Amino acid sequence: MPDPEVSRELARLRDELRRHEYLYYVLDQPVISDAEYDRLMRDLQRLEAAHPELSTEDSPTQRVGGKAREGFLKVTHSSPMLSLDNALNEAELMAFDKRIRDLLGDEPYHYVAELKMDGLSMAALYREGRFMQAVTRGDGVIGEDVTENARTIRSLPLSVESELTDFEVRGETVMNRSAFERLNGTREDQGLNRFANPRNAAAGSLRLLEPSVTASRRLDFYPYYLLSGGKFVFDSQWGALEWLAKHHFKVNAHRSLCANVVEVLAFCRGWEDRRETLPYEIDGVVIKIDSVTQQQRLGFTAKSPRWAIAFKYAARQAESEVEDISVQVGRTGALTPVAHLKPVSIGGVTVSRATLHNEDEIERLGLRIGDIVVVERSGDVIPKVVRVKTQGSYRRAFRMPAVCPVCGGKVVREPGESASRCINTCCPARVKESILHFSSRGVMNIDGLGDAVVDQLVESGLVRSVADLYALTVENLLTLERMGPKSAANLVRNIANSKKMPLPRVISALGIRFVGERTSQFLSEEFGSLARIMAATDEELQKAGEVGPKIADSILEFFKEAHNRDLVEKLRAIGLKLEYDKPKSDGKGSLAGLVFVLTGSLEALKREEAASRIQNLGGTVTSSVSKKTSYVVAGSEPGSKLERARQLKVPVIDELQLIQMLEGTEQNK
Ligand code: IVH
Repeated sequence: MPDPEVSRELARLRDELRRHEYLYYVLDQPVISDAEYDRLMRDLQRLEAAHPELSTEDSPTQRVGGKAREGFLKVTHSSPMLSLDNALNEAELMAFDKRIRDLLGDEPYHYVAELKMDGLSMAALYREGRFMQAVTRGDGVIGEDVTENARTIRSLPLSVESELTDFEVRGETVMNRSAFERLNGTREDQGLNRFANPRNAAAGSLRLLEPSVTASRRLDFYPYYLLSGGKFVFDSQWGALEWLAKHHFKVNAHRSLCANVVEVLAFCRGWEDRRETLPYEIDGVVIKIDSVTQQQRLGFTAKSPRWAIAFKYAARQAESEVEDISVQVGRTGALTPVAHLKPVSIGGVTVSRATLHNEDEIERLGLRIGDIVVVERSGDVIPKVVRVKTQGSYRRAFRMPAVCPVCGGKVVREPGESASRCINTCCPARVKESILHFSSRGVMNIDGLGDAVVDQLVESGLVRSVADLYALTVENLLTLERMGPKSAANLVRNIANSKKMPLPRVISALGIRFVGERTSQFLSEEFGSLARIMAATDEELQKAGEVGPKIADSILEFFKEAHNRDLVEKLRAIGLKLEYDKPKSDGKGSLAGLVFVLTGSLEALKREEAASRIQNLGGTVTSSVSKKTSYVVAGSEPGSKLERARQLKVPVIDELQLIQMLEGTEQNK
């Protein structure tokens, strides 16, 4: 007989975690920190482990529980997953509308316009309100059972509370651009091939035999179609989408109920211009007749529904000749081959360079200088060569240089790595890149250190390492081109201000491979000071779980180098924070009871991010200044709120001070 107390606590924890999953993964509006979330998850795991008889399949702990399979079972779809007819231009869209009008006679009709996300279609089946099975589209009739992998997609609800208990949701599994870039970066570091695009990465990730790896790939599921076996009839597509959103599915918010084809076209054109601003890739707009009764009357052809069409955007590709291949040197010394193209316009932008990533990629493409290639520009990423179109009549193979093209130092390619590296740590190209990284926004946030300034600083010999930045004077800076007294004074002040950045930022700033924001925060909390991190053994670094063998190895390698240790000593002498200010935690959140007002534009933090982090720590953010306000955070160009703060004598702090409050006191975020 289960203890009612335990059952109640289990239900409470599960509900709480489901709520936070929804806030974080579906709405993108977390209200607690990752650490608090992890703590709740651990509490639930512990309780379930102590009472295995009370575990359930739809518990948030069960996202990564499934076992790896030998292969994927084939499953026949309840009804075929059809594809859509395409409209490649305005005329074809108009022709589609005319067909509809002719078929429906005089009846009025509405369209629903939805973004056509570029991923992998998948059906998710629910029985008795619980997620039961997920199947890929496959050939449309038979797909593959990817249930355990789909379970790891945090935006896919594992249970649904509704009168409608048995239904099937079809939708698109996608990988965000940022997750895609991160994944490819890691793969490159591991010497693995890059995925060509987020779509392939999503497909590859959903079909992995190890669900725990799928879980780390951060997929999203956007539903666009609901089937319910006739038990509960939605009379419109719009209504079905609203039902899905209400029941915590991640329905794409960018959709529109249109009264006619002109409105549809405006939606299509509007997103064509703005598609790059979306966090995921789209390749068009899907247009559907809203009324389900009308859908049924229009019916299907053998291949696709008559009541829907896909308006496809033109691919952002063009052909051009590779005139040469040069090599760029990055912060870690990695040599990246870059194709020099005959300038060509792609979607209104002239492209004359495209990345080739590494030697293996050139080999995979079978590319030689002189070939005509297909170049693609997608999102705001650097254009890339997709394939060789025709071989040039005078072609010349590319060879990775044996010495660094910038400093003449030795180039090595370690076994198992895809990148060749310049091993000279004083290589000006590496120094420039490391300064740009050091001063960038999420790191030390030194405004005014752009490409052009850094180039001159390194070339003139004024700066040989990041430590030299702190010795720069206004007089030094005035020797640079296009540097006026005001910019020079600002830059010197910004550099000096960065000394106050908390330890996690300093660690990220060092540019140790694989050690980004999250790991830096973790190391700061775990070891308390840079000295202790430097003294830690491999075993100590790996003890707490967050750091795996690869990261540990990279940290040890970094501090083994004398010049890196020297750099740390210089930074210590300059007065950077190498100790971690421990959280002054009272259990409630260190900003509990404090009321903040944000004004002006912030640099390092986005406004929403600042607000949510203040809230995570128990603080409140309001929009107007009153006597109850504890702090006004003034960014650049603050408005009348700053005036009001002065009148009321409310303390005014700047962004840096806010960051210190957040990071000095934040509990292991
Ligand atoms: S509706 C019968 N809506 O585009 C319903 N499809 O050829 C058919 N897609 O295979 C699909 N976003 O993978 C629909 N909002 C959306 C979509 C969408 C992406 C994909 C889907 C389908 C292909 C159409």
